[in-house]
Parts: sequence; structure tokens; C-alpha cells
Amino acid sequence: MPIQTLTKMKVIQAIPFGPPENLRLSEMSVPQPKAHEVLIKVIGAGVNGADLRQREGKYPVPNGAPDIMGLEISGTIVELGPDCSRFKTGDKVCSLLNGGGYAEYAVVPEGQCMPIPNKVSPIDAAGLPEVFCTVWTNLLDRGSLKKNDTVLIHGGTSGIGFAAIRLAKLRGARVFSTARTTKKCAAMKRFGADRAINYSEENFWEVCHLETGGKGVDIIVDIIGGNYLPKEVELLAHGGRLLILNLQGGKKAEIDFSYIHSKHLTITGSRLRPRTIEEKAAICRQVEKEIWPLFESGDIIPETHQVLPFSEAAEAHRIMEASSHIGKIILTP
Ligand SMILES: NC(=O)c1ccc[n+]([C@@H]2O[C@H](COP(=O)([O-])OP(=O)(O)OC[C@H]3O[C@@H](n4cnc5c(N)ncnc54)[C@H](OP(=O)(O)O)[C@@H]3O)[C@@H](O)[C@H]2O)c1
Repeated sequence: MPIQTLTKMKVIQAIPFGPPENLRLSEMSVPQPKAHEVLIKVIGAGVNGADLRQREGKYPVPNGAPDIMGLEISGTIVELGPDCSRFKTGDKVCSLLNGGGYAEYAVVPEGQCMPIPNKVSPIDAAGLPEVFCTVWTNLLDRGSLKKNDTVLIHGGTSGIGFAAIRLAKLRGARVFSTARTTKKCAAMKRFGADRAINYSEENFWEVCHLETGGKGVDIIVDIIGGNYLPKEVELLAHGGRLLILNLQGGKKAEIDFSYIHSKHLTITGSRLRPRTIEEKAAICRQVEKEIWPLFESGDIIPETHQVLPFSEAAEAHRIMEASSHIGKIILTP
């Protein structure tokens, strides 16, 4: 059907906000692309931790963003808004969204679209933009990862953890990574981690301290915060960088600032979603240039845990809440 004649599309929404079973298919108008935007027919939508909080009504949508969940998609461009220059209709892309991915169609600024890397299937591509853009801007840009750095990555089997382990290894770092189970530790070793720490049985601080001969680690990718923070500041080596991606374990901690002062530490954090269109486009260009060739060379192979249809979105959220997944969960319309 020509796109001009399409007026309605199916979307997944939490009605009302609440548990996974509140996720329902409903109908909405197909959005229209404005200047520098494209309309994409969705092939896959990546599931992220932020979707779960949005479903519960705990993640305020940034100004101007659609209130539908979904921060990343893959799909086919079916319509160009005015003044688009990077793509043509029919191109297959994957895109970083401001929201709106859990839908049959999504409008995206063209700067936030990237070609699907060679050797990656369109469905797997749906799980790449959010994690690789986040890891790029934190680990490589703000964290200035260098060859021979020692890096501690928490939650190594999350989408973020997978991307961070692969990129750190490919850049020549030594990687420590944490997860809750033996099975997840085996997965982190498969991704390339030099030392998988089962945090149910081992203390990450003790392991890293001992196995670096007391020197500590150069970079920590933290998604936990809370009571991890004082130990992390203590564990960092001279010139170390603490990169805070989330604070799922708590946002307050008592920290000995003398470690920051005496060891020249940098503590930084960032959130991708509220960044401007221009900032996101700039990150996408870096990811296309620096990371997409690693998929084409086979150095990174997407880690997709499960693909479920939109009608099973509740199950997708339950899997993520139970944290039984390894890698990305993808929804398909
Ligand atoms: N700042 C940003 O721009 C940005 C962007 C995207 C994502 N994020 C954040 O990055 C994190 C991962 O995102 P995702 O979408 O990939 O989610 P996800 O797959 O649900 O990952 C959550 C991870 O947290 C791990 N975890 C929970 N408690 C832990 C602990 N005490 N120590 C170590 N790991 C622990 C879980 O692993 P176990 O089962 O092994 O505990 C799981 O792998 C989320 O917190 C998300 O909010 C931030």
C-alpha cells in the first residue's frame, strides 16, 4: 500500500502505566516526517532498561519526544521529509530514537539513522544503536580508553556490557567484568573478558585489587552506583576514570574525596536519551566510522538473546526484569 494512504498503525503502550501485562497493542496515526526526518517501517525494535521504567511511569519522556516506548529500531525508509539528503526510500537503516520504537512506523531525524553494517541481519541491527552509541560516547570518548588500560565493566551480559567488553578488548584493554551467575560468567568469557567475576560469590574490589597487584583499574563502567561508588573510587588507579551510566543500586553514597584528589581521578556520567539531535547525530557518525567496520570484519557479532513479536511485548519485559537474558531482546511488528 502506498505510504500516503496509510493513516493508522499498531503501537505497544502501557495502559495504564504498571506491570508488563499492561502492555497492549493499540492504534495510532502514522507520524509524518518533518524537515530532516525520515519515516521508517519498523523491522525490529530493541528493548532497553529505560523502556521498563517508562512502562511503570517512572521515566519522564524528554520534551518533544514521542510517549511511545522504544529507543532504537531497524527498518526500511518509506518516506523522506523535506531537506533530507543522506538516504533514499527503500534504504535499510538502524536508528537511535528519542522514543517511538514500539510501533509499526517511526519518524526519526535522518542524522540518527545509520546504514545496517554488512553481515548484520536487519533484526539483529535493531539492538545495536542504543548500546553502541552509549558505549562509544562513554568508554571511548569521555573515558578515553587506551591500549593496555585495565577496565572493569559491571553487568557484562547486558546489551551495554556486551558492547563494552567487545570494544575494550578490540582496543587492547584488559577486561574484568561482573555478573550474577556462572552461566553469565561463561558468556562474558566468550565475549572476551579476561576475568569474569561472579558477584554472588566474589567481591569485585578484592578480585581487581589482587589481580592488578594492588595497582587498581584505569576505567570502571558502572551501572549500579549506590554502595559500589566508594569502593570504585578506592579501586581506581592513578588517573582513573569512573563512568556512570546508571545508578540502579542507589544515587547517594559517602565517598572519600581524598582518593579523587590524590589519584587525579575523573568521575563522569551521561545519559544518551536527553542529548540533542545534533549531539546524537555526531555520535552516530563516530559509531558508523569506528564501530561498523568491526561488524563487517567479523570482530563483533551481534548478541541477540531472543526475538519476540509485538504481541509478546509483556513477555519480553518479564525476561528483562528477571535478568535471565544475555545480550539484546528484540521485538518485531
Ligand atoms: N546512560 C545512558 O545513556 C544509558 C544508555 C543505555 C543503558 N544505560 C544503562 O545501562 C544498563 C544496562 O542497560 P541494558 O539496557 O543493557 O539493560 P539490561 O540488559 O537489563 O542490564 C541490566 C544489567 O544489570 C546487571 N546487574 C544488576 N545488578 C548488578 C550488580 N549488583 N552488579 C553487576 N551487575 C548487575 C544485570 O546482570 P545480572 O543478572 O548479572 O545481575 C543486567 O545485566 C542499565 O542500567 C541502563 O539503564 C544507560
